[in-house]
Amino acid sequence: MRIDVVTLFPEMFGVVRDLGVTGRAHAQGRWSLHAWNPRDFTHDVHRTVDDRPYGGGPGMVMMAAPLEAAVNAAQQSRAAQGLGPAPVALLAPVGRRYDQAGAEALAASDGLILICGRYEGVDQRFIERCVTQEISLGDFVLSGGEIAALAVIDAAVRLLPGVLNDGNSALQDSFNDTLSGLLDSPHYTRPEVYEGAPVPAPLLSGHHANIASWRRERSLTLTAARRPELIESARAKGWLTKHDERYLAQLAGIEPPADASAAKRRKPRKPAGGDAS
Ligand SMILES: C[S@@+](CC[C@H](N)C(=O)[O-])C[C@H]1O[C@@H](n2cnc3c(N)ncnc32)[C@H](O)[C@@H]1O
Repeated sequence: MRIDVVTLFPEMFGVVRDLGVTGRAHAQGRWSLHAWNPRDFTHDVHRTVDDRPYGGGPGMVMMAAPLEAAVNAAQQSRAAQGLGPAPVALLAPVGRRYDQAGAEALAASDGLILICGRYEGVDQRFIERCVTQEISLGDFVLSGGEIAALAVIDAAVRLLPGVLNDGNSALQDSFNDTLSGLLDSPHYTRPEVYEGAPVPAPLLSGHHANIASWRRERSLTLTAARRPELIESARAKGWLTKHDERYLAQLAGIEPPADASAAKRRKPRKPAGGDAS
């Protein structure tokens, strides 16, 4: 996978290129990073990349021409490497929210050109001419697109084959299909008791089925509390087992959805507190 970034701050990308899991993968040649500074595509002595907004108002706007020239250079460099034209994504709060599915799609592709805005944003005519998608990191405003681009790159690179030491570990992460798209369960490591707090007993049992069942229930509990829409989505996809449904019903304090035979077996329940008569 080849990532090109158009940025006024190429040095910020050392974070993913040189450090940690993504840095090791870069050194192994599993992905490559190419940074393009719009200032290198200007023709005036001040290397101007921004100007005041038409219509007035605060701040500056990134000019279209240096950005378009940088994108063209990136596409030409990709072509010289035998790659086809890449989609061009602008990081922008008005874009579509980046998620795990977006990271998986990027990891399965041969790359992307990421445009990092600064100031008040970029000239709309550049967006209309060159940008194929706009990506948001969330409902907040950053000073520039670089931190958002770093997150986009990191989430995709760790999914590339061979990047994580334990190939299965990404499968056990939150939002993964293997976890039915739910949130991950809590993790513990040594010591067995920390400041009086013990590790939950099932994790010490060595009993694989009990451990799996404890983790599944913790995932369901956390997801139901924090992201109930992910439970609905898993249910709609048929990813919840009967055991999951019984557990969720118990969490909600309601009768589990029962099949007809189970309903027949169930005895009528006495009202809580016993017979009032
Ligand atoms: C100060 S922001 C501009 C915000 C813009 N005026 C608005 O209100 O939508 C400068 C740049 O940071 C980047 N940026 C800010 N917040 C972002 C977010 N939530 N997701 C992705 N990029 C973001 C974009 O590239 C943007 O052009």
